[in-house]
Amino acid sequence: MAGGNPLDLRAWLAKMEESGNLQGIRGAHWRFELGAISELNVKREGHSALLFDEIPDYPAGYRVLTCTTSSPYRLASILRGPLTNDHHELVRWLRGKPKAWESQAKAFDPVAVETGPVFEHVDAGDAVDVLKFPAPLWHEADGGRYIGTGCAVVTKDYDSDWINVGTYRVMVHDANHVGLDMVSGKHGHIQYQKYMAAGKPFPVCIVIGADPLCYLISGIEVPYGICEFNYIGAVLGEPVQVVRGELTGLPFPAAAEIVLEGWIHPGDTRLEGPFGEFHGYYQAGAKPAPVVTVERVYHRRNPIIVGSPPAKPPNDYSYSKAVMRSALLLDALEAAGVPGVTSVWAHEIGGARMLTVASIQQRYAGHARQCGHILSQCGVGAYMGRYTIVVDDDIDPSNLSEVMWAVATRSDPERDIDIIRNAMGSKNDPMSVAYTSKAMYSSRAIIDACRPFDHLQDFPPVAEASPELREEVRRRWSSILPL
Ligand SMILES: Cc1cc2nc3c(=O)[nH]c(=O)nc-3n(C[C@H](O)[C@H](O)[C@H](O)COP(=O)(O)O)c2cc1C
Repeated sequence: MAGGNPLDLRAWLAKMEESGNLQGIRGAHWRFELGAISELNVKREGHSALLFDEIPDYPAGYRVLTCTTSSPYRLASILRGPLTNDHHELVRWLRGKPKAWESQAKAFDPVAVETGPVFEHVDAGDAVDVLKFPAPLWHEADGGRYIGTGCAVVTKDYDSDWINVGTYRVMVHDANHVGLDMVSGKHGHIQYQKYMAAGKPFPVCIVIGADPLCYLISGIEVPYGICEFNYIGAVLGEPVQVVRGELTGLPFPAAAEIVLEGWIHPGDTRLEGPFGEFHGYYQAGAKPAPVVTVERVYHRRNPIIVGSPPAKPPNDYSYSKAVMRSALLLDALEAAGVPGVTSVWAHEIGGARMLTVASIQQRYAGHARQCGHILSQCGVGAYMGRYTIVVDDDIDPSNLSEVMWAVATRSDPERDIDIIRNAMGSKNDPMSVAYTSKAMYSSRAIIDACRPFDHLQDFPPVAEASPELREEVRRRWSSILPL
């Protein structure tokens, strides 16, 4: 077989099983049970990924996998980093990596091969039935069964060779039609609009399961014009091995579990949703969304749907979003020339967008405000932000109780909260119901919770044991103070 990485989910699953990171569950129902079990699982400390099998109404072996990216260990292994259960170690390792991957992406064009495991089974014509797979009805109020959550949607630009891969949810309408929810402005949507303007059908391949690195990267903001397969190649240090769809010629990973291939025909929309959003709300009722007419289904023997359902955070993908967005934000602050940033954390409870915290080693008057405003308004941070907090470097930005202690004790509301009006809002903001303008404007609060720079010397000292004393008593009293 030619070189390249086929993004084989099964190789990753074998590693997870070996390391005790995978739990098998038999007999849970696709209607609500897969969703509720996954939702409860992800809120437990030290939880595993879940592989559901023997799903009622489906042949044994037709499986659904959830909770892939929701722990430091699994996320580190997906990113091919040093394996660790320590969240801070993972974040430290990731520092600067997104910037490097982005600049290396050009050198990692995917390699096309003739065939791969994804072609073990091919359905065409009347044989196409997307409900041959156990697409879950994840939550009680969902508008339909979602076959695509931890998925990757492959599309092509109308007037260039640019291939985009984005994670957009996929709802089943019937045997050969699925709905695609691409928010306006997302790259897949921009490409779709070009085809619609030209009155041409929009070719689509939907990858329903692959090595989770695939949907991890297609679910983050890789810059316009860069193909996510190239970016994934940079993460892997080798190109992605792809095969091409028989009808559209679009590329997808050679070892993908399931791929739906088809077209969105001009004017073809149907009601899609409602479905929960990453922030934990059903933002809207059913809305018209483009429909993919599926003409081919490719799948492996005993295929696996990779699911990643949203819900009130922490949810299936809130941890990985927080880690990835935090790394991107840290890169953005450095690129903007903000010195002394020790850490950034985009909190899961804010969907990794609405509550972001940076810690800095204060170097000059105005440093904290500069950091807060840039963090709030840089390219990665601007969309759907809300609260941005800057703390001193003795505070861990990912520890909410420490952050709020700093806000409560080191800020004065009248002096230390800046408001930005008419910033970039979103129809997906739960507060958009109360937006006062028709345009999607919303406001931002920047909270400077650093000790005042002009009072660093006379600010009251913190009342707690010194790090040296803590370490010493931990050593001497390890029986009552285990590490
Ligand atoms: C599990 C998951 C589900 C997502 N669902 C959607 C969705 O339904 N619609 C959407 O527009 N973005 C969704 N996103 C966010 C996009 O994938 C993300 O913004 C990505 O950058 C889009 O790709 P693009 O930048 O190539 O447009 C989801 C992300 C993840 C991780």
